[in-house]
Amino acid sequence: MTTSPAPGDTEVGLVVDRVSKSFGGIRALHEVSMTVPKGQRRVLLGPNGAGKSVLFSIIGGQQPPTGGRILAFGRDITRLPRRRRAALGLARTFQLNSLFPRLSVEENLFLGVQALDRGSRSLLRPASTHRRLVERTDELLREWRLDDRRGAVVEELSYGEQRQIEMVLALAGRPRLLLLDEPTSGLTKSETDEVVAFLGSLGREITVLLVEHDMDVADRLAEWITVLSLGEVVADGPPGVVRADPRVREVYLGVSAERSEGRDA
Ligand SMILES: Nc1ncnc2c1ncn2[C@@H]1O[C@H](COP(=O)(O)OP(=O)(O)O)[C@@H](O)[C@H]1O
Ligand SMILES: [Mg+2]
Repeated sequence: MTTSPAPGDTEVGLVVDRVSKSFGGIRALHEVSMTVPKGQRRVLLGPNGAGKSVLFSIIGGQQPPTGGRILAFGRDITRLPRRRRAALGLARTFQLNSLFPRLSVEENLFLGVQALDRGSRSLLRPASTHRRLVERTDELLREWRLDDRRGAVVEELSYGEQRQIEMVLALAGRPRLLLLDEPTSGLTKSETDEVVAFLGSLGREITVLLVEHDMDVADRLAEWITVLSLGEVVADGPPGVVRADPRVREVYLGVSAERSEGRDA
């Protein structure tokens, strides 16, 4: 926690400042702080129940914290509604598949583009609106080299490909901060490789914060890892340093059995 820039710094993408969250008597997060510089690939690592998804949903605006603040690109967004966060450049994916399985890649992207387009609910000029949405969909298909998959029905794609479509959907609004909740969960080793490659292809104008429970995947994706356990930060640093941290080893001994039973073990 030494080399992180201070809140208010223009080079900072995201600041989590002493965020706490309780559900009745259950303390899910306790004074969690972290600072993510612009353009960094940061992994939030921790075993099941650590509080990763809760912190994510607080950053994304799905629920408010009990205490503390969230700043994005220097702005306090703690109480900002989701729509305004999106306008500031935040986008997220969810742990569970959020695609329409029976629709094609193109149809899924079209619906995502439509949901982002403010003017598309207007009954005025429906033809030009439709044209604009189709053009943006085409642009995304080209940009992410999905042209040859455009007609493919989503449920017939590999899980790895489905994850990529979800990420492309999150990128449709050209976010500056991309939040990914366990993008490789349930994937085989080769599907995980595809997702790792996809994330590697993202430009540095995008700051990436992703949740991961597998230390090996975190190692491959992260420039910096923040480890949560029981709602508190127990380590924060480059992958090599975090891996060697005795507190992290202790936290991870408890989940070693679960990990070795994983689908791609
Ligand atoms: N809506 C909720 N109501 C009550 N407890 C919750 C709620 N959401 C999460 N929790 C609790 O908060 C803790 C952290 O959960 P979560 O963030 O989902 O963990 P992780 O994503 O790290 O596996 C868990 O103990 C969980 O049961
Ligand atoms: Mg989770």
